[in-house]
Amino acid sequence: MQEPILEALDVFYRYPDGTGALTGATLTIERGQKVAILGPNGAGKSTLFLHFNGLLRPEKGQIRFHGEVLRYDRSSLWQLRQRVGIVFQDPDIQLFSASVRQEISFGPLNLGLKPPETQRRVEAAMAATGVSSLADRPTHFLSHGQKKRVAIADVLAMEPEVLIADEPTAGLDPAGARHIMDLLTEINGRGTTVVISTHDVDLAYTWADVAFVMAGGQVIAGGKPEEVFEQDELLVKAELGKPWLLEVHQALLRGGCSGSRSDRPRRRKELLEMILAMTGR
Ligand SMILES: Nc1ncnc2c1ncn2[C@@H]1O[C@H](COP(=O)(O)OP(=O)(O)O)[C@@H](O)[C@H]1O
Ligand SMILES: [Mg+2]
Repeated sequence: MQEPILEALDVFYRYPDGTGALTGATLTIERGQKVAILGPNGAGKSTLFLHFNGLLRPEKGQIRFHGEVLRYDRSSLWQLRQRVGIVFQDPDIQLFSASVRQEISFGPLNLGLKPPETQRRVEAAMAATGVSSLADRPTHFLSHGQKKRVAIADVLAMEPEVLIADEPTAGLDPAGARHIMDLLTEINGRGTTVVISTHDVDLAYTWADVAFVMAGGQVIAGGKPEEVFEQDELLVKAELGKPWLLEVHQALLRGGCSGSRSDRPRRRKELLEMILAMTGR
C-alpha cells in the first residue's frame, strides 16, 4: 500500500459570485506518483489545485497533506507552500522579477535561506529546467516556452515534495510540450510527486501513473490510465476523446488480430511491436 500525500475529501467550494466550482470532490494522490487530472473547461481542476496549497479553503470537506487536515493560519500555510508548489497555467501571472536569476532566487530568499544555499538551489533549478543560459535575461522578454520553464524552476528552487502544474503544455508547440513533460518526468524521477491538469488525453495516457477525471466539480473516475480511458461512457460524459493508441489497439482486436484486451500499449513503440507480432513479422 502506497502512502497518501495529498487528499481531497468531499470538497465543496463556491466563488464569491456564487459559482459552485467544486461540488463534493474526492481523490487521493499517493507519494511518488505522476498524476494527471483531466476534464473539460470549468470542471474544477484549477480550483482543486488552489485548494492543495491552501490558496483556497473548502467551504465544506477537507484537504489533507500527509494525512493531516490543512490548517490555514499564516505559519501553517507558509510551511505548506514550501512543500506543495504550484506552477500556474499562465506564467505571466507567476513571473514578476526583473531577471530569470532574481525570479528564481525570490522563493529561497523569502524562506530565509543563506545566500550560498540560495545560490545552490537557483543554479540547480536553472540547470534542471535548461534555463541557465537565460539567467540574466529579463523574464518578460522570454518566449512562452521559456517562461514556462522559468515558472517550473521557480517552484523547483523551493525543493517541494509535490509539484503541481496547471495545464503545463497549454500554448506550447508539440516539441515544447514534449520537453516540458520530459522535464516533469525527470523531476518525478528524483522523488517529487508530480500532479498536472491537461485536456490532452494522449499525453495523459502515456505519461501518467494515475489519471483522474473531473466533471462538474467532482472527480468522477480515477485509476490506471489504460483502465480509465477504456470507459467509453465516462469519456463521453467528461467530453474527452480516446487516446489514439487505445483506439488503434481496439480496432486491431476488432479486426481479428490476435492479442488480448489486457495488454494495452502505453507507448507508440509498444503498439508498433504489437502490430509486427500480430502480422507475424
Ligand atoms: N475566480 C473565479 N470567480 C468565479 N468563478 C470562477 C473563478 N474561477 C473559476 N470559476 C468558475 O469555477 C468553475 C471551475 O473552474 P476551474 O476550476 O477554473 O475549472 P478548470 O480548471 O477545470 O477549467 C467554472 O465554472 C469557472 O467558470
Ligand atoms: Mg483550469
